Amino acid sequence: MTLRAVVKGVGHYLPERIVPNSEFEKTLDTSDEWIKSRSGIERRHFAADGETTSNLATKAALAALADSGLVADDIDAMIVATSTADLTFPSAATMVQAQLGMNKGFAFDVQAVCAGFVYALSNANALIVSGQAKRVLVIGAETFSRIMDWTDRGTCVLFGDGAGALILEAQEGTGDKTDRGILSTDLNSDGRYKDILYVDGGVSSQNTGFLRMQGKEVFRHAVEKLAATAHTAMDKAQISAEEVDWVVPHQANIRIIKGTAKKMNVPMDRVIVTVQDHGNTSAASIPLALSVGKSEGKIKPGDVVVTEAIGGGLAWGSVVLRW
Ligand SMILES: CC(C)(COP(=O)(O)OP(=O)(O)OC[C@H]1O[C@@H](n2cnc3c(N)ncnc32)[C@H](O)[C@@H]1OP(=O)(O)O)[C@@H](O)C(=O)NCCC(=O)NCCS
Repeated sequence: MTLRAVVKGVGHYLPERIVPNSEFEKTLDTSDEWIKSRSGIERRHFAADGETTSNLATKAALAALADSGLVADDIDAMIVATSTADLTFPSAATMVQAQLGMNKGFAFDVQAVCAGFVYALSNANALIVSGQAKRVLVIGAETFSRIMDWTDRGTCVLFGDGAGALILEAQEGTGDKTDRGILSTDLNSDGRYKDILYVDGGVSSQNTGFLRMQGKEVFRHAVEKLAATAHTAMDKAQISAEEVDWVVPHQANIRIIKGTAKKMNVPMDRVIVTVQDHGNTSAASIPLALSVGKSEGKIKPGDVVVTEAIGGGLAWGSVVLRW
């Protein structure tokens, strides 16, 4: 008998305000055409004043609970992947716990920037296969609009706010690749690249700071490292490119998504793409794409799904699962 972390439900929430590329033309030397052609982004959602990351996360969690037919008290553990928690402490996860009225179990945040959701999934998988939790709520939630330098056209047009949530449940499997649930994980980081994507402030630096990025450098690392981690995770799960039903990549840039899919030998009609509507929502982008992919009838029970993500650190990784 092998314990597997099987998807029970998925959901997402996007703030009401939708900002099209044309909005930026009013204040910056940029254009809808430049943003679309370089990144694939057409619009993004921004949180309202006072609407925090834990508020978005709670709404996504409620949607995932509804999709699973579960209530908050059915959950033993919660992991929130975020780099934009409401407060320095407590964790966004405990704030979501309070908003859900979930008074048991344990909750904590994981911070691996845009790779946060694959890190959180891998941690949730470890909790389940080691018997420490039966049902884990895994959330990716961000308000990156709060760390944008609105005068920097190279970054502020690329990011958005949102949240997605997945519920994993311990189920018995046979131990081979026909099992439903998480089949393999691969995580990596390399702090030598900390200066190509970072926020120039923080608690210990005594200011909030803004996101700073050397876009070309990040791009250079992204395709190569994403394809490598996806291949490693697929090899561990003994899944070939032909067996992959859906690649669900971190949604940063359509050119990175296409380049990575090509290196993985998976055609674009088997890739879930939401970057045009959401922009880069960091740790929220993969659960948002999973939720959209499911609601559009693309991702179905039994499908093999490969997620891959890279972000500040650099930190990157991949999770292979059977839906
Ligand atoms: C940021 C990114 C879209 C820029 O695309 P690019 O093709 O590399 O563009 P370049 O960096 O060569 O910039 C070309 C020019 O466009 C300019 N430019 C940058 N942002 C612009 C904008 N919003 N509008 C118009 N021009 C812009 C640059 O200033 C540069 O001008 P210059 O040649 O006069 O210096 C791209 O590098 C990228 O997506 N990188 C990865 C970013 C990412 O995904 N980060 C998150 C990972 S989690």
